[in-house]
Amino acid sequence: MSDELKGFAEQTFEKIQQKMSAVVLRNTENIPYTSIDGRFNDYRDNICKWTNGFWAGLLWLMYRETGESIYRGTAERAEQTLDHAFREFDGLHHDVGFMWHISAGLDYRLTGNPQSRVRALIAANLLAGRFNVEGNYIRAWNERNNEQNIGWAIIDSMMNLALLYWASEETGDPRFSYIAVRHANKTMKHHLRGDGSCRHIVVYDPKTGEELDNLGGQGYEKGSSWSRGQAWGLYGFTISYEHTKDMRYLDAARKIANYFICCVRCTDWLPLCDFRSPKEPVIYDSTAGAIAASGLLELSRNVPETEREMYESAAGEILKAMEKHFCDWDMERDGILQMGTERYHGEAGRHIPIIYGDYYFIEAITKLKGNIMQIW
Ligand code: GLY
Repeated sequence: MSDELKGFAEQTFEKIQQKMSAVVLRNTENIPYTSIDGRFNDYRDNICKWTNGFWAGLLWLMYRETGESIYRGTAERAEQTLDHAFREFDGLHHDVGFMWHISAGLDYRLTGNPQSRVRALIAANLLAGRFNVEGNYIRAWNERNNEQNIGWAIIDSMMNLALLYWASEETGDPRFSYIAVRHANKTMKHHLRGDGSCRHIVVYDPKTGEELDNLGGQGYEKGSSWSRGQAWGLYGFTISYEHTKDMRYLDAARKIANYFICCVRCTDWLPLCDFRSPKEPVIYDSTAGAIAASGLLELSRNVPETEREMYESAAGEILKAMEKHFCDWDMERDGILQMGTERYHGEAGRHIPIIYGDYYFIEAITKLKGNIMQIW
């Protein structure tokens, strides 16, 4: 790691720490998703929302870096609030990985809290229960009254596999990682394209697992490349490699990383929402940059020395560009990373702060600082 990058990480973390020390005091009970007019909103009434673990996860990252009890206490409350989602059950989906791996899961791994271990294991069992044994894929979504998506698998699920690998490592029961591996293999075959880009949604016949179609999902159109999906794939295959040491996953992660880097360089390291969309309108997605940067740093730890700098410096370029153009350091306003975009189509949810943008931005900066841990 270059001294210049380390210096950037130290300086940026100081700004994060300063801002978060004010933000956490204003948000002691709520579970935020976005910030509106500089104030975080509250998703406690939408408890099964897939993003509801990121606030606790972010606070655990801050606790790990600073040791300050305010972060720990607030993270613990958010984790307890999430218990309501288990009771609702019906609204839950494959993102129980995002929801519990970095809230309860990180709590357990940092503090040893036995209650948190139980929560993470319940979530892992829910995720395992979504596996289609004939089709070899994890069902993504669960919208009520929507029979159509029974056969849908999405690239994002690759991140959720971390919870399954952890559950096998924690319990010694290989069932969870068998499922993760089978889903990863199917994703590698059906989502990853020859040029290193990824499809967002693949539709399978839920009775046989045969591929029926693929969809553009949150990207521009069928055949395009939604940048956050590319980031999930690059980070997700890296995680599968870390837990299995199967070189095919590392190669998949490299391919997606090389494709991502190639695309993001063209727009001065600020990621567009879809790398294959019309030139106008210009729609960015900062969350894709934050996820990819953290994924690239994870990948850099797993490749031979000769490749390491390439991925580290690309992550650094993305983070520096986003720090310069997309970060809001005003302590009176909640939300650090601006310009996140939920999906390509539709004005709502475009160019807004999104909690997982902040989470992955902070995760990446702590990695650049050298504070390494197997988080996923
Ligand atoms: N996992 C859903 C998204 O990235 O928007």
